[in-house]
Amino acid sequence: MHADTILRNALLIDGTGAPRRAGDLAIRDDRIAAIGDLSGWAAGVEHDAGGKVLAPGFIDVHVHYDEAVLVNPQLESALSQGVTTVVNGNCGFSIAPLTTDAPLPMPLGAVVNDAFPRFRTYAAYDRFLRDNPASVNAACLIGHSNLRVNMMADLSRPADRAELKAMCAQLDQALAEGGKGLSTGPFYPPARGSDTDELIEVTRVLRNHPGKMYVTHMRDEGDRVIEGLQEAIDIGHATEVPIHISHHKCAGLANHGKSCQTLPMIDAARASLSMGLDTTPYIASSTMLNSGRHKQASRVIVAGSKPYPEMSGRDLEDVAREWGVDLDAAMERLLPAMGVFFIMGEDDVQRILTHDLTLICSDAIAEGNHPHPRVWGTFPRVLGHYARDKGLFPLENAVARMTGMSADRFGLTDRGVLREGAFADLVLFDPETIIDRATYEVPKQTAAGIEKVWVNGRLTWQDGAHTGARAGHTL
Ligand code: ZN
Ligand code: CU
Repeated sequence: MHADTILRNALLIDGTGAPRRAGDLAIRDDRIAAIGDLSGWAAGVEHDAGGKVLAPGFIDVHVHYDEAVLVNPQLESALSQGVTTVVNGNCGFSIAPLTTDAPLPMPLGAVVNDAFPRFRTYAAYDRFLRDNPASVNAACLIGHSNLRVNMMADLSRPADRAELKAMCAQLDQALAEGGKGLSTGPFYPPARGSDTDELIEVTRVLRNHPGKMYVTHMRDEGDRVIEGLQEAIDIGHATEVPIHISHHKCAGLANHGKSCQTLPMIDAARASLSMGLDTTPYIASSTMLNSGRHKQASRVIVAGSKPYPEMSGRDLEDVAREWGVDLDAAMERLLPAMGVFFIMGEDDVQRILTHDLTLICSDAIAEGNHPHPRVWGTFPRVLGHYARDKGLFPLENAVARMTGMSADRFGLTDRGVLREGAFADLVLFDPETIIDRATYEVPKQTAAGIEKVWVNGRLTWQDGAHTGARAGHTL
């Protein structure tokens, strides 16, 4: 009945969606040792939680921190929100495996800046991260575009038989070495040339790795969002592999309201398929500036530009006016660049957020010096703005969407739940004051209301500051 740390007098929200209850929690080594009335217990460190909420650390199921966990291992943007685990390698792009020495096409070049020698195998990346741990736990998907870039000279067409065989073998190895699933991004140029048959062939490899998913940034999230979703569902039916729709949205004014069709499609498919989705709690998206999104957007902010870093934070329209050129010419000059695009409707955002399968993600990328506010604000925004202020769902349900449900879906064993024996990834927050402070104007701001964060039993964030701990595991 002795622990390293005891948190007394907390309001426990356990990540399963169950109602909150008062209690204490004890940490020993990297695990939760006991939960309940621990008045008979003693510990080296005792904290009075003061009736604040103690929840499992949040799991951000969709980010692009593959290289950032190595370059900036403290990852304040995640920890300051209560995030203790991230899933990297999304949208078809992962830091490993990279067996090509050629320059990387965008947006792979935005995820991997070659700050390190390229990781030719997933095992090499996993080993490097294990030896140089980050402050958060990290899992990683294997990008389909990596396989294409590695094995194909001409990315404009579907892979031929020989290329497919090589891609499948490389994926099979990366999954065996610990990759958490396959991500695809047929929306983006490196994979736009792939057809559904190619995606099906590659996805079949997942059948050798039970539970691992096909996670997709769909071919289209705008005018053809229905067709994009249908393609993902077709791939599920052809392969019987679990299908996960990334950052689900209906982009462009003409497509606002289409979540009234897409969500029922997901519900119909789940009768015979394992289906899931995640989303970000904002009406603006963010990706490479020349993604074509600007045609659908009511406003575009330059998030970062390699040749013109001083234009970060400016509206693309203002930049074009100042330069006396049209939008396309301004965009061309700014490349390589990232943008923030106002393309979604609030009704769709709320409808998608409240669907019973939806997980919360930030889709954060460590690129550009004026990022989307989601990089710093996503999780407190869901808890403060959408759960508490808008009453979209009970706090317990909001927490489940960023903890227990996320761990279940991505196969993160002993994470995302307050349970004896589970890893002590924990966040202590004030349910009355928690809120995002990051805005489109000033995006790099920590949230309010996050008091303490533990990662594998180590206190890592406290009262607005990082403790320096780097206790993250590779998952
Ligand atoms: Zn994406
Ligand atoms: Cu993404």
